[in-house]
Amino acid sequence: MKNKIKKIILTEEQIRKRVGELVREINDDFRGKDLVIVALLKGSIVFLADLVRGFDREISFDFIGVKSYGDSTQPSDNIVLDKELSIDIRDRNVLLIDDILDTGKTAKWILKYLKKFSPRQVKLCVLLNKQSRRRVDIQPDYCGFDVGDEFIVGYGLDYADRYRNLPYIAVLSSSEYKK
Ligand code: IMP
Ligand code: MG
Repeated sequence: MKNKIKKIILTEEQIRKRVGELVREINDDFRGKDLVIVALLKGSIVFLADLVRGFDREISFDFIGVKSYGDSTQPSDNIVLDKELSIDIRDRNVLLIDDILDTGKTAKWILKYLKKFSPRQVKLCVLLNKQSRRRVDIQPDYCGFDVGDEFIVGYGLDYADRYRNLPYIAVLSSSEYKK
């Protein structure tokens, strides 16, 4: 796969260090409080796996799935739920985890969906933030890194459902994006 990478944006070491810092920040804010992490499939699972193993406390986690991107690099306005929440979040502190906040439409839609279940609070944590692409009014409560307007893959992020397993975050060579 290495020959398909144009450049590495974030190395394994940079990600590991920053995820550790996020764990400490979240730990401080939710100290002594119950915490449920809701991870958005599939992009957030690598981030989730590293994040949750950093906590020395009790947490629960669950998954939620939507279809919004298809196989292209352009976001769609149609968001359809394809994996419902399976645990009860009523009166609980919820942390929604996603890989990247791009236009913000998906996260905004999911926050609204989660609020229907009357959680005590819902906070948003994203590994990456593409601020320049924002189309709706939403900001993460916790953010790993700000990134520019480039389509990136790895550490959970895909292009056409591939490259999620790269341990770093990278831009693919332009020939790969046309396949
Ligand atoms: P939004 O609704 O536009 O914020 O889209 C967020 C979703 O789009 C993320 O959960 C990703 O799945 C996907 N996405 C946005 N930018 C990228 C990217 O650069 N690489 C891979 N997936 C991306
Ligand atoms: Mg995604």
